[in-house]
Amino acid sequence: MVKPVIILNLKSYKEVLGENGLKTLTIIEDVAKEYPQITFVVAPNLTCLSEFARRKKRVKVYAQHADPIPVGAYTGHIPVEALKILKADGTLINHSERQVSLDIISRVISEAQRLEIDVVACGGSIDEISKIATLRPKYVAFEPPELIGTGISVSKARPEDLKKSVKVILERSGNISIPICGAGISSGEDVRLALEYGANGILVASAFVKATDKKKKLIEFASAAESAVY
Ligand code: G3P
Repeated sequence: MVKPVIILNLKSYKEVLGENGLKTLTIIEDVAKEYPQITFVVAPNLTCLSEFARRKKRVKVYAQHADPIPVGAYTGHIPVEALKILKADGTLINHSERQVSLDIISRVISEAQRLEIDVVACGGSIDEISKIATLRPKYVAFEPPELIGTGISVSKARPEDLKKSVKVILERSGNISIPICGAGISSGEDVRLALEYGANGILVASAFVKATDKKKKLIEFASAAESAVY
């Protein structure tokens, strides 16, 4: 059985940059210790990625984006191989705030598979995730962009689309890709519903980053995921 995944996308939020980012990693590691039945992933800003990858213990560290180019004379790019070299575990691709073409998504997935690192390929519509799922990344994330940052969760606002996304991802990937979801998730109930509707995990950003007590909020998410599955 695949353990449910909680992916914390730290984006470029000031609250989790620099030293505050490293303190946040410690919080996530502490919660991961209490919830071994959950996979925890953190996707820090690129400026923190190397330090997160160096300090990680139980938590997986993903980039927020990668480019399908080889290492070499490419200014301002993030080669997938560079993530492997710094011991990152994977990358998001095509997040609605960092969209790329289907061809780029395909090339990043191929390169990541060659280097044995994970890919979370994001899509904002059923049509988009249907195309992405055929590329068979490890995870396909359904994230309606209009709900991102609103605190109105995909599981409460778009239950039928969420259920449909799970079906489409499994069908189009030949049961290879793992369906997950994100956007507006802010409570344990949002997490419980997402898993009840068939997602095997969630992505969350603002509800965690902006929480007055990040540890308490992450425990709320983790205990909801644990009780939904076990
Ligand atoms: O990648 C997940 C992120 O886009 C969701 O954002 O703030 O709605 O949790 P948020």
